[in-house]
Amino acid sequence: MTILKDLAVDISLALQMGLRDTGMNTICELVSNAVKKTDFVRTYLSDRAVGQDVREVLYEDEELGFCICGHVYADAAIGSPHDHGSSWAIYGQAEGETDMSEWTVVAEKSDGTKLVSKTSSYTMKAGDVRFYDIGVVHSPHRTDPVRLLRVEGENLDNIRRSDIEVVDE
Ligand SMILES: [Fe+2]
Repeated sequence: MTILKDLAVDISLALQMGLRDTGMNTICELVSNAVKKTDFVRTYLSDRAVGQDVREVLYEDEELGFCICGHVYADAAIGSPHDHGSSWAIYGQAEGETDMSEWTVVAEKSDGTKLVSKTSSYTMKAGDVRFYDIGVVHSPHRTDPVRLLRVEGENLDNIRRSDIEVVDE
């Protein structure tokens, strides 16, 4: 088996443990181990060709729906505050740094737009892993090249994210 397939099997087993927190902690450890492996990073988080998407779905589980994705940014990538709709996600920093902020929802407009206020900021360095539960609003700020591994509860290509409006930075 490839190291990617091994990772997928281990994530699948963790998700089936039933205890959500225990499962997520286990997946965070698995992701942390993966992004610290030179072979894994070289094979699955390689430089993108010209015109190639920064995002690559490396594995999608037919049974449970989770995805393992590689994101490789050659330049700055500044993300505005967002959630992942009905999905959770785990970010694993493989190379470079991400300045991440988290936001709390302070109110909701009648059209469903969520009003958010910044609650914390931190820097994710190589080997760092973070779990973002369903509905957690966050914003990544990357000024230099970055490689990261992201495990998604569902393929985020198919997820509708909330409309977000910042009221307090
Ligand atoms: Fe995100």
